[in-house]
Amino acid sequence: MSQIYITTPIYYVNDNPHVGHAYTSIACDALARFYRLKNYEVFFLTGTDEHGLKIQQAAKEKSITPQNFVDNMSSNFQDLSENLNLSNNDFVRTSSPKHIEAVVKFWENLSKNNQIYLDKYSGWYSIRDEAFYGEDEIKDGKAPSGSPVEWVEEESYFFKLSAWEKPLLKFYKENPDFVQPKSRFNEVISFVKQGLKDLSISRTSFNWGVTVPGNNNHVVYVWIDALTNYLTALGYPNTDTEMFKKFWPANFHIVGKDILRFHAIYWPAFLLAADIEPPKRVFGHGWILSGDEKMSKSKGNILDPLDVIEKYGLDPLRYYLLKEVSFGNDGNISKEKLENCINSDLANNYGNLCQRVISFNEKNLNLEIPKNIKFNNEDLNLLNRFKENYSKIENAINKQD
Ligand code: ME8
Ligand code: MG
Repeated sequence: MSQIYITTPIYYVNDNPHVGHAYTSIACDALARFYRLKNYEVFFLTGTDEHGLKIQQAAKEKSITPQNFVDNMSSNFQDLSENLNLSNNDFVRTSSPKHIEAVVKFWENLSKNNQIYLDKYSGWYSIRDEAFYGEDEIKDGKAPSGSPVEWVEEESYFFKLSAWEKPLLKFYKENPDFVQPKSRFNEVISFVKQGLKDLSISRTSFNWGVTVPGNNNHVVYVWIDALTNYLTALGYPNTDTEMFKKFWPANFHIVGKDILRFHAIYWPAFLLAADIEPPKRVFGHGWILSGDEKMSKSKGNILDPLDVIEKYGLDPLRYYLLKEVSFGNDGNISKEKLENCINSDLANNYGNLCQRVISFNEKNLNLEIPKNIKFNNEDLNLLNRFKENYSKIENAINKQD
């Protein structure tokens, strides 16, 4: 049996989940279920990202310890997974001991391979994005994402990202489907071609994170910590297990375009530097918009999936999200459009079809499917069209289209 490993991003627990998170998770779940139907052995992972300054600050605002805070918030994300009827095989938490062990080992392996050095960082940092930005990227005091930035000057460990510019470009060339959709891959490639600077990978000004091995003053940059989750769930640092051999490299990291850079550039560079094979595909989907803006916890303009499920039901929400937004593009959603979709697609079209077929069957065939049916030409045409469409659908799903 062939194996498929599918992941969602692990979501920050600074605030409650919203429809944007539900969107990625539902898309991954649909993929996972499709491949299980086709008899693949699927490992589908989701989870929560619980370290970093953004979380430490959110806990402080509530006057509780970071650990208490993340325990509460992570369980809200776990509840959402259940309420969305996700078929995930595991739920990873970055504050768990086994994950912390994986991050420490990953760091040590990078260090052993001479990929890390100590220096001083001075530059811009966005807490909302948990990202460093170059001087040339800042406009009107904001990051390209629109997030506020602050000036940071502190001692920091660096990852030798600049050394991976050429190997990455070679890797992209040899794996022309590594990033989907194609247009986003082109953006990634031109970003790398503009040149990569070494990446700051530790912080000293707060402590909610994984302590850098051998230096208690530093915590590991939250993105190294977070990306390692995809290995943790397979039992890393133990790579000799059946689990690891079966499922690594991951087939699909499905992420929003906001975090494509981390998955398509930093992650394969870290992995190559640690002698681990990069994932097979990163798909960067578009954003669910609220008006013209990205729906986001930090912006507070969110639609609560639990409210929607309570009012309209789960399957209508799952159907609506996958149908309304062509996967890869941005899309606007609203309660009004959801209601229209439920009325026209689900009630009028699908509902009516079922109603007619089933009541006809009840009247004439006692709700049974007759054996030894003799098909006429029209039946056969219809069945053929189904088969043709099925292979089109399968091709589309293989491209996450
Ligand atoms: O970035 N439309 O976590 P996060 C579509 N912890 N998708 C959306 C969305 C929207 N409006 N809002 C959120 C992080 N998402 C890191 C990830 S992974 C190693 C670490 C989805 O809580 C989308 O998948 O900010 C996006 O990439 C992700 O949630 C960001 O979630
Ligand atoms: Mg975010």
